[in-house]
Amino acid sequence: MNRTTQLRWRRMEETDLPPVVMLDKACQGNAWNIGHFRDELSRGEAGYSRVLEDPEIGVVGYLCAWLVVDELHIGTIGVDPELRRRGLGRGMLQQAHQWASNRGATAAHLEVRSGNVAAVSLYESLGYRKVGVRRGYYADNGEDASLFFADLVPSRSNPE
Ligand SMILES: CC(C)(COP(=O)(O)OP(=O)(O)OC[C@H]1O[C@@H](n2cnc3c(N)ncnc32)[C@H](O)[C@@H]1OP(=O)(O)O)[C@@H](O)C(=O)NCCC(=O)NCCS
Repeated sequence: MNRTTQLRWRRMEETDLPPVVMLDKACQGNAWNIGHFRDELSRGEAGYSRVLEDPEIGVVGYLCAWLVVDELHIGTIGVDPELRRRGLGRGMLQQAHQWASNRGATAAHLEVRSGNVAAVSLYESLGYRKVGVRRGYYADNGEDASLFFADLVPSRSNPE
């Protein structure tokens, strides 16, 4: 059976936060605490926080992003380590891009640890290009952040 066919992409709710924080810990060593995710839920119309849910095992992916005028900023994204390399991360980002395009966004940007090969490859596969570096950005190990930018095609059709 292909598990990924049963997955549901839906709004992140307050009750999702404990499993999201656990998954974030597995993905990124608790880069964000529950307060960070809660702040995302309070962004209102400018915020895009979603989970990917498996009906049997619960939350297997998450993404938080927000609009700054006509640009989408990707805040965080993670996929259950057991379900990687199946196109889920790409699909989640594409959903966020579509949501932002439907609201007239013309660009997307994010920062990522320079040594995060999986994430950098994912972003490049979706047309992101490196536009800068923040030296020593990550406090835990002094790693640089690479800044990535992608053009989006604004389309105000089919708003969610
Ligand atoms: C980055 C992450 C979200 C990717 O999720 P994923 O579902 O495995 O990604 P996808 O299957 O959609 O991969 C899409 C493309 O990204 C690239 N990619 C993904 N993982 C890769 C890896 N480990 N090595 C090299 N390229 C990789 C490939 O180009 C891949 O396409 P392909 O499988 O057709 O070759 C996932 O690895 C993750 O959760 N990492 C930990 C959290 C994290 O680093 N988040 C980003 C913080 S900025």
